[in-house]
Amino acid sequence: MPSGQRLENKVAIVTGAGTRGEIAGTGQAASILMAREGAKVLLSDIDIDRAEETLNTIEKEGGTAKIFIGDVTSEKDCEAMVNESVKQFGKLDILFNNVGGPGGGMVTEIEEEDWHRSIDLNMKSAVMGSKYAIPTMEKSGGGSIINVSSIDGTQAGSTRNVPYSISKAAISHLSRIMAVHHGRQNIRVNCVAPGHVYGAFPNRFKKMEDDWRELRKKAGPLGTEGTAWDVGWAVVYLASDEAKWVTGVVLPVDAGVQAASPLSMLGDIIGSEEPKSNLY
Ligand SMILES: NC(=O)c1ccc[n+]([C@@H]2O[C@H](COP(=O)([O-])OP(=O)(O)OC[C@H]3O[C@@H](n4cnc5c(N)ncnc54)[C@H](O)[C@@H]3O)[C@@H](O)[C@H]2O)c1
Repeated sequence: MPSGQRLENKVAIVTGAGTRGEIAGTGQAASILMAREGAKVLLSDIDIDRAEETLNTIEKEGGTAKIFIGDVTSEKDCEAMVNESVKQFGKLDILFNNVGGPGGGMVTEIEEEDWHRSIDLNMKSAVMGSKYAIPTMEKSGGGSIINVSSIDGTQAGSTRNVPYSISKAAISHLSRIMAVHHGRQNIRVNCVAPGHVYGAFPNRFKKMEDDWRELRKKAGPLGTEGTAWDVGWAVVYLASDEAKWVTGVVLPVDAGVQAASPLSMLGDIIGSEEPKSNLY
């Protein structure tokens, strides 16, 4: 059963609405939460089985969703995706540009093909989705677009992931630029920047060891582990009318990791009061 009304009468598209891991990803969590809050959700994914898993959960809970299968790195598919939302639900109010993923290596390691794939997946997808969403949202009086950056977009991450990291930095800036360009159309554009989330993404390649999970927890001022659901709630807020005066924001969802410096967390990480700076 839908549990709230914060998104009642809203129509949303979530790209990457399935999950590649055993644990919910941000697209899956946000889709389920938006449906619980009353939105009708178009679940866009490249993989039918993954999209159906999310659809089944939403339908079991009494929510409303439909599936669109396409590749959001293709402009043609992005156009078709937005048209499908109008066909299924009559309009579009919310676009969560969630698709993204790694493309590895330092600059000395990057293969040209991986470079293009990563930039397309992380950046082009958000640009092309928005290109078709904005005129459609304008027809129904405005809307809310939420992009996904990452802690890796502001700081060098623990993996060496140049195309991913710079794409995420670009997505943060894209969100500010779009907020300025489309504010007068009553279209708000914001961004979430997840931190060390225990979700589908980091677990897909290598099962995350317990000691690494523990270390990721300790690196944040809150000292707790976050999941895709924490990111999903931030997306619900930015999508809702409660955020009607919020645009151009990059919201970290990271237990405070981006507020800390490595030395400020060192005592917590190594489990000691020391070392402390004795300079002051
Ligand atoms: N989980 C984290 O720790 C974390 C941290 C920072 C940022 N993020 C960001 O969150 C977003 C989602 O990551 P996740 O790990 O939750 O998702 P995920 O890797 O589980 O993928 C979600 C879905 O996207 C679909 N997908 C992949 N490529 C697609 C394409 N070209 N077109 C359409 N669908 C496609 C997949 O089939 C999958 O069902 C990404 O942008 C990621 O960079 C995640």
